Amino acid sequence: MTEIHSVLAERTSPRSFDPAHTLLDAVALGLLEAARWAPSAMNRQPWRFALARRGTRLHAALLAALHEGNRRWAGDASALVVALAERSRDGRPIGSADYELGLAVAQLGVQAHTAGLAVHQMGGFDHAAVRDLLAAPEGVEPVVVVAVGRQAPADRLPPDLRTRELAPRGRRPLAESLLVWDDTVWPAVPEAAAPAPAA
Ligand SMILES: Cc1cc2nc3c(=O)[nH]c(=O)nc-3n(C[C@H](O)[C@H](O)[C@H](O)COP(=O)(O)O)c2cc1C
Repeated sequence: MTEIHSVLAERTSPRSFDPAHTLLDAVALGLLEAARWAPSAMNRQPWRFALARRGTRLHAALLAALHEGNRRWAGDASALVVALAERSRDGRPIGSADYELGLAVAQLGVQAHTAGLAVHQMGGFDHAAVRDLLAAPEGVEPVVVVAVGRQAPADRLPPDLRTRELAPRGRRPLAESLLVWDDTVWPAVPEAAAPAPAA
């Protein structure tokens, strides 16, 4: 397999988080700062964030708004970060808002990894409840809740979650995602003859 940066290779979305870990202000700000520097069309920056650290009322309310399958494990993470997309501004749609929010959250994830933390994004939550909790402005919609914390051993988890935690990460082969390589329809390129992508 072609080598990729260790941050990308090592990153996972764990479910086991250390309930004794506290997210310091400076580290939390670093995560949001990393997100802030994401690119966006016309530099519109159509992202908003809400931070709720474990022990706060907002954290408890957000945890209650997660779907049951997420609530089982996400409470031990040090913080829940809600990522919201500004889908319209001044009555006009921002079609790329979710795409750009995703870029910002990806940068947050890389920053977290370099700080020795892990993140796990969740789309499984009551969107209307979270919108209301945060009094999100018109046109701004919650997209993911991101659990952030220090990863803990899998044996803290109940057996079914432990099995999922220990399963190897997988992706379909690149050939199934890449449609065209230069002038060639990708699947027609024999695996061995395919040039390595430029670094
Ligand atoms: C938009 C989005 C929504 C997701 N929603 C959930 C979720 O509700 N619950 C969950 O356990 N994982 C959720 N995930 C995490 C994915 O399941 C995970 O990224 C995927 O299985 C690949 O695993 P990896 O991140 O460890 O490589 C979500 C990820 C994304 C990007």
